[in-house]
Amino acid sequence: MRITMVGVAMAIMCVMAAHADVKPQKDFNLQKFAGKWYRLGLAYDSPSFVPYRDKLKASMGIITALPNGNVNLTMWDATPIGCLMKVYQYERTSVPGQFTYFSPRHNMMKDVTVVDTNYTDYALVLKHKVFNREYTQVALYGRSLRVRNDVIQRFKAFAVSRGFPRDSILTPPPAENCPSSGSGR
Ligand SMILES: *[C@@H]1O[C@H](CO)[C@@H](O)[C@H](O)[C@H]1NC(C)=O
Ligand SMILES: *[C@@H]1O[C@H](CO)[C@@H](O)[C@H](O)[C@H]1NC(C)=O
Repeated sequence: MRITMVGVAMAIMCVMAAHADVKPQKDFNLQKFAGKWYRLGLAYDSPSFVPYRDKLKASMGIITALPNGNVNLTMWDATPIGCLMKVYQYERTSVPGQFTYFSPRHNMMKDVTVVDTNYTDYALVLKHKVFNREYTQVALYGRSLRVRNDVIQRFKAFAVSRGFPRDSILTPPPAENCPSSGSGR
């Protein structure tokens, strides 16, 4: 029993240490970050997501910068019942590049950090919840459906450094006709 408690405490400390060193992109610029992105990579090790891993597609999203510094993220997801559009609302924090977001699915607040972006090609985004690794995700966004291989390698290395098992680090194929051609693509 005692050993288990020590193990839990150590696991929590590791998560907190991992969380503490996450820094957003230096001099983050929301205006430059806005616009169209494709989610080309996703690291997500929730057990409930395992059956869907090979069905995942590279979704398209549009970041809208609101005047107050908040963000609307509109995502299109190819699902078995069709192409679904969803709007996620990210709220600004006092730290540029760091947002909070209420997840109705998990019924909790999450932190969203833009860890690294050069605005024109790629962005690495970490979604996390302190004390609960299960809800942590790393996403790689690209301005187009292809990014350089070294960017993909950096995404994978970053996910591994956050403790994701290799088989939870996915680089899905493009979604076909989602959103359907004609609706902005
Ligand atoms: C942001 O999203 C909310 C919720 O969907 C919506 O009511 C609002 O009009 C959106 N704002 C902009 C500027 O798109
Ligand atoms: C952004 O990153 C890509 C891929 O590493 C690189 O080719 C491009 O030159 C970079 N752009 C800027 C403005 O740094």
